[in-house]
Amino acid sequence: MHSRSPRLHNYWMARYGLSGTYVPLEIESGRLAAALRALPALGFSGCNLTIPHKQAALAVVDTVDPLAKCIGAVNCIVVKEDDSLAAFNYDAFGFVESVREAQPRWRPDAGPVVVIGAGGGARAVVAGLLEAGAREIRLANRTEARAQALAGEMGVAIAIVPWHEREHALTGAAMLVNTTSQGMQGEGELDLSLAPLPRTALVCDIIYIPRETPLLAAARIRGNPTVNGLGMLLHQARPAFHAWFGIMPEITPELRVMIEATT
Ligand SMILES: NC(=O)c1ccc[n+]([C@@H]2O[C@H](COP(=O)([O-])OP(=O)(O)OC[C@H]3O[C@@H](n4cnc5c(N)ncnc54)[C@H](OP(=O)(O)O)[C@@H]3O)[C@@H](O)[C@H]2O)c1
Repeated sequence: MHSRSPRLHNYWMARYGLSGTYVPLEIESGRLAAALRALPALGFSGCNLTIPHKQAALAVVDTVDPLAKCIGAVNCIVVKEDDSLAAFNYDAFGFVESVREAQPRWRPDAGPVVVIGAGGGARAVVAGLLEAGAREIRLANRTEARAQALAGEMGVAIAIVPWHEREHALTGAAMLVNTTSQGMQGEGELDLSLAPLPRTALVCDIIYIPRETPLLAAARIRGNPTVNGLGMLLHQARPAFHAWFGIMPEITPELRVMIEATT
């Protein structure tokens, strides 16, 4: 019910002259399958899914896009003409596009990428980085087994870094991404000194509240370029809108200001 998606999609509905509306629906965990199966009869073109439904939906839908399968979570469902349900995950696209937009000269294969965290957000970020062409990912998570599971599923280009060695892993890195909840409003700061990180390295945080986390502030002060999580949120919505209505919508300055006002 706190999602920004209704504002985003209803802005685009109006901008592209579509008659329809995007509504937030609160679904109990045990009723996800019934709710999704009702979408065609209710006339929905599809839906987005957020916590806690992103994994559970995999078992309900009829087809799962390979990237969503690889990430292990669904954030968008499309109702097909035959009323079947097709599942996708556009968070990886959202992350990569947001970095490209903010840093047009960014190259995923410029050097080692350090990813902190191994939750749902990390899965999307790692899948996006690998698909974009990253050649070396160093992954550190407080619970190492979770990082190992992620690496086991996603590929050989991922090196697991023990949590207590995460700062050491910043040496020579071209990019750092925080995917943990640390730094989010109401949470503690991420416990990470940037001292070994080259000042040219791009520092990203997928958190968007606040727009500048303590990690991004520390990176900016020492001269590193930074990207926050707002672009990921905005860009993951574009292919979803396209999948439902055949229009790839634009992130206009007006839309950005409107969403920024809510964060
Ligand atoms: N911009 C966007 O569009 C977007 C998209 C997705 C997520 N996000 C943001 O990303 C963040 C994570 O979301 P998620 O869905 O990935 O959550 P999640 O699946 O619950 O994962 C949370 C991650 O944070 C780590 N963590 C939690 N507390 C920690 C602590 N005290 N010290 C160190 N690590 C800690 C967890 O480590 P353990 O495994 O050890 O518990 C895990 O790696 C949230 O702030 C969310 O809003 C943003």
